[in-house]
This record gives sequence, structure tokens and C-alpha cells, in this order.
Amino acid sequence: MSGIRTFTIIKPDAFEASYTGPIIEKIEEAGFKILNMRLERLDQNRAGKFYEVHNDKPFFERLCNYMCSGPIVVMELEKSNAVEDFRKLIGATNPENAEEGTIRKLYATSIEANAIHGSDSDENALKEINFFFT
Ligand code: CMP
Repeated sequence: MSGIRTFTIIKPDAFEASYTGPIIEKIEEAGFKILNMRLERLDQNRAGKFYEVHNDKPFFERLCNYMCSGPIVVMELEKSNAVEDFRKLIGATNPENAEEGTIRKLYATSIEANAIHGSDSDENALKEINFFFT
């Protein structure tokens, strides 16, 4: 059975462009309940740990620099079928491939500055929630 929790980050580009309000509105309209939320700023060490799974990728260093470039908003969310439904709501990683109406189609500018993160599995959702909220 799929889980009821997922984790999201409103990324520095979206925060800087004042899209936090509209993004949260879309998340709530889609039926997600915010269980935890915090504004924070990552440092290189924490960004590197959060994105550890990507540390062999060519974009890892740029990704960490970008994620440390400004404030982010982290949230724990609840809904039935949370991970899958949230990934549908945010759209494809590359906004060029994201469906109309998705958060990334509306607010992201590139594959790197893609406005929002969503956990990709129940297991990772739990890890990511624990990373930020324990
Ligand atoms: P996210 O889903 O938060 O998790 C990994 C992030 O790496 C992803 O969003 C993008 O921001 C970034 N990413 C993935 N693929 C690429 C790529 N090819 N070039 C640059 N950044 C990428």
C-alpha cells in the first residue's frame, strides 16, 4: 500500500521570485495537508548530505551551489497516495517536459532551477522528512 506522507522543498528560484504563496495554494488545493513547514537556508555540507545520492552526477556541485543560493521552504505533507500524487502535481524534473498546469510548468525556469522538489518514493519521503524535521 502506498504511503500518506511526502516531503517537498520550495527551491531558491521559486522563493526568490515570490512564488511561495501560489505554490502552497496549489499544494493545499490538491488536497495535501501541511504537517510541518519551515523556512531555512542550506549550507554546502547539508545540501551535499541531502543530495548524497547524486554525488557522482556531473551536475552535483552546481546543484548544491544552487540549493545554497537562497532561502528554501521545507514541508512535510499528508495525503493518500502522497508521493505519486505530489509528483503528478509538480510535473517532470525538466519544466520543458512538464504537463500544462503543473507547478514546474508554471513556475520553473530550467532543469536545475526547477522550483520544487518532491520525494520519489515512500522510503525517500521518510528519510527526507527525518532529515529536516527530527
Ligand atoms: P530534484 O527532484 O529536487 O532532485 C535532484 C535535482 O537535481 C533535480 O530536482 C534537479 O534540480 C537537479 N537535476 C536533475 N537532473 C539535472 C541535470 N541534468 N542538470 C542539472 N540539474 C539536474
